[in-house]
Amino acid sequence: MDKLLIDGSPPLTGEVKISGAKNAVLPILAATLLGSSTSTISNVPHLNDVTTTMSLLARMGCTITMGDNMVVDVDPTTINDYTAAYELVRTMRASILVLGPLVARYGQAEVSLPGGCAIGARPVNLHIEGLRAMGADISIDGGYIRARAGRLQGTRIAFDMVTVTGTENLLMAAALAKGETVFENAAREPEVVDLANYLIAMGAKIEGAGTSTIHVQGVDQLMGTDYSVVPDRIETGTYLVGACVTRGKIKVRDTVPEILTSVLDKLREAGAHITTGEDWIELDMKGQRPKSVSISTAPYPDFPTDMQAQFCVLNALADGTAKVTENVFENRFMHISELQRMGADMTVDGNSVTIRGVERLKGAPVMATDLRASASLILAAFMADGQTEVGRVYHIDRGYERIEEKFHMLGAEIQRVPDR
Ligand code: EPZ
Repeated sequence: MDKLLIDGSPPLTGEVKISGAKNAVLPILAATLLGSSTSTISNVPHLNDVTTTMSLLARMGCTITMGDNMVVDVDPTTINDYTAAYELVRTMRASILVLGPLVARYGQAEVSLPGGCAIGARPVNLHIEGLRAMGADISIDGGYIRARAGRLQGTRIAFDMVTVTGTENLLMAAALAKGETVFENAAREPEVVDLANYLIAMGAKIEGAGTSTIHVQGVDQLMGTDYSVVPDRIETGTYLVGACVTRGKIKVRDTVPEILTSVLDKLREAGAHITTGEDWIELDMKGQRPKSVSISTAPYPDFPTDMQAQFCVLNALADGTAKVTENVFENRFMHISELQRMGADMTVDGNSVTIRGVERLKGAPVMATDLRASASLILAAFMADGQTEVGRVYHIDRGYERIEEKFHMLGAEIQRVPDR
C-alpha cells in the first residue's frame, strides 16, 4: 500500500485537465453487455475501479482490448459466464451495475450483494424490486442475488427514494424489455444522462433522461457503438476547492461547467471569482481567504454529497462559521475526526456539523476512509503546518487519476511513497 506525504502548498496555480467521470464510465462499461457487437469507449479515466470493472467483464468472457490513451474496446459477444463474484464486488459496490444488463440481455445473473461500505449500509432493494416488477425471478441466498428471466416486461417504476445506480440498472434493463417502462422519481445526475446517451447511441429509445420522469420504449436489439465519457464533475470540484483553500488561481480544462452549477454557486458565495467557457472553468481567489458557506447535500441538481467532505475542508479554513448537512448517506462524516486531529474546529450534531474556520491546520498522520474523504484530507494538508501523511491511498486511486501528479503540477508539495 502507498501513502502520500504532503508538506503544505503555496497557492495552487496553473492548469489541470479533468479525466472522464468515474460514475459515468462504470455504468457505461456495464451497459456494453447489452450490445450484440463491440463498443469502443473513450475518455476512460485510469482508475482502479475501471480496472476492476474490466476484470469483471473479462471474467464473464467478454473480450476487452485496452487501446492507448485509455480507449477501451468491449466485445460482449464472447460472454460465457453471468456471475459477479464476491471477491470483486466487495472491492467495488458498483459491480451491481452488471445485474440489469445481464438479466435483460441473457436472462440470468448471479451477482454478489455489494454489502455496506464506510459511508453507509447502501442497500440495493430498489434495484431488485424494480427487476422483479419487470418480471425477473430473483432470490437472495448465500450473499448472492440470483436472477432468472424470460424477456423482461416494461412497467411503471416509481422510486421511493432517488437512487443513482438504481435508476441506471433499471434503465439498462428497460432498454431491452418488451413495451414501455416509465420511471418516476428517477435520478437526474449527469452520469445518468451520459449512460442514457450511450444507450440511445446503441439504438435505445429513451426520453426524459436528466428529469425525474424517464420514458423507455424497449427494443429487440442494441448494437455496440463508439462513445466518449462525460468529464468528471466531482474531480473538477475537488481541484477548484483546492485552489480556493490555498487562495490560488487555476484553470480546469476538459470539463463541463453546466453540470457543476450548485458547486460553482457555493464557491462564488465563498468569495471565489469564477469565469467559465465551453469546456473550462477558471477560479481566482485573488489571494483572499475563503468565506464560510453552509451547504446541505441532496440529489442532483442540488449540492452533491460527493462534494460534502471537500466543503468541510473549505469551511475548516474559511473566515466565519458554517453548517454542513449530509442528507443522502447516513454515515458520511468519517473525515471529521481526521480533520479534528489536524486542528479543525468542528462539532457534529446528527447529520450536521458546525464548522468554525481557522487560518491554519496542523500536519498529522491521517487515515483515508472513503474516496471523497481521502481527497479532502489532501486539501486540508495543503494548509497545514508541518507534514501530513495520508495512508490507505488505494481509496483515492479508486476515483482520482494521478491525483498527486496533478496537484504537484499546480504547485503542491506532495509525493507518493510506499507505506511499509
Ligand atoms: C452513486 O452511488 C455514486 N456511485 C456515489 O458516488 C454517490 O455518492 C451516490 O450515487 C449519490 O450521488 C456511483 O455512481 C458508482 P444511491 P449509489 O443509490 O447509486 C439509498 C463516489 O464517491 N438506497 O443514489 O450507490 C442509499 O442507501 C460514490 O463516487 C436505498 O436505500 O447511491 C443512499 O442512502 C460514493 N436502496 C441513497 O439511497 C437502494 O436500492 C442514495 O443512494 C438504493 C439506494
